[in-house]
Amino acid sequence: MKKSITLLPGDGIGPEVVAEATRVLDEIGKQYGHEFTYQSAAIGGTAIDQFNDPLPSDTLALCKESDAILLGAVGGPKWDANPAHLRPEKGLLRIRKELQLFSNLRPVSIYNSLVSESTIKEEVVRDIDLLIVRELTGGLYFGEPSERLDIDGEEGAVDTLTYKRSEIERIIRMAFQLAEVRGGKVMSVDKANVLESSRLWRQIANEISEEFPNVSLEHMLVDNAAMQLIRNPRQFDVLVTENLFGDILSDEASMISGSLGLLPSASLSADGPGIYEPIHGSAPDIAGKGLANPLATIASTAMMLKYAFHMEDEARDILNAINKALDSGIRTADLVYGNQEAVSTSEMTDAVLQYI
Ligand code: NAI
Ligand code: MG
Repeated sequence: MKKSITLLPGDGIGPEVVAEATRVLDEIGKQYGHEFTYQSAAIGGTAIDQFNDPLPSDTLALCKESDAILLGAVGGPKWDANPAHLRPEKGLLRIRKELQLFSNLRPVSIYNSLVSESTIKEEVVRDIDLLIVRELTGGLYFGEPSERLDIDGEEGAVDTLTYKRSEIERIIRMAFQLAEVRGGKVMSVDKANVLESSRLWRQIANEISEEFPNVSLEHMLVDNAAMQLIRNPRQFDVLVTENLFGDILSDEASMISGSLGLLPSASLSADGPGIYEPIHGSAPDIAGKGLANPLATIASTAMMLKYAFHMEDEARDILNAINKALDSGIRTADLVYGNQEAVSTSEMTDAVLQYI
């Protein structure tokens, strides 16, 4: 098969991990006879520096024409003092909105050889397999107004959490559809004891559950969910939640796997190309040093193969190869505790390639 992939390397460690992931895609292409072609485009801080725009129109046009998009990460201290419209994160928010990527799937599992190295007890993390479904184009990250303003003669600021019924319905329905082919359980996470938007969310979740007699629905308040994820993550199958809640809970959940540098994601729309991206950011503290763990991005390409190209065997090959690479004992710095030696970003990829 021929597939065109837009690469959005972005900032910080983004270009480093995206380059590694394409090495793995190339190897899969070679072995299975697929032709993956790449075109790179600017987004985030890099795009601000070049075009004074965090999402240039050429980048967006290229993305719309491609079969799938692989993104690294955006952002960094260099642009932190910029006005809101010239911040790298604005580019990412805009492309999610433009492509209507309302559904961000964040699977959480643990590779065999990391079970005994987890900072959480072995018996708690062993065999974990849950899926966080984060709403991605609404909620607190998109609500208006979002601005500085004068409040009672004092400096203040406002952000807004808004959801329309249609936005809640489609993400909840997506969660139920995914649960149907997984463990049959949806946990809807909200803050319905305080927030009106959460009460609407909960009401709609109850309505949608009527369409799925084979899937059970429970509700949990987000603060409790944060605690339960560490206490007993095995109770969860599919968690579905608001944009900001999902962002925070998935970083937390990465510690079940062992590192933020391991978790992939897929940002999907109803049709059209999706963005496949690690859940981590641009990690400016380790950028340019060959220290980044490429596995989150490599695993994101496995999600691309599965969801965008329906190449299930190829996707499984990548995950198996990651498992074997870790079984061989090598670790990037983020996975090392104590005196164990760490390998570099490209050495980790070399190991994965060996097993494909
Ligand atoms: P971050 O996710 O970049 O880093 C958090 C911590 O995890 C850092 O100590 C970092 O070194 C480590 N880390 C992250 N990815 C890693 C990897 N692949 N291998 C090894 N270690 C890794 O979050 P932080 O530091 O809060 O934000 C840094 C910048 O990234 C900010 O500008 C932020 O806005 C941006 N960001 C961008 C995201 C995106 O593009 N999707 C998501 C989150 C943050
Ligand atoms: Mg995040």
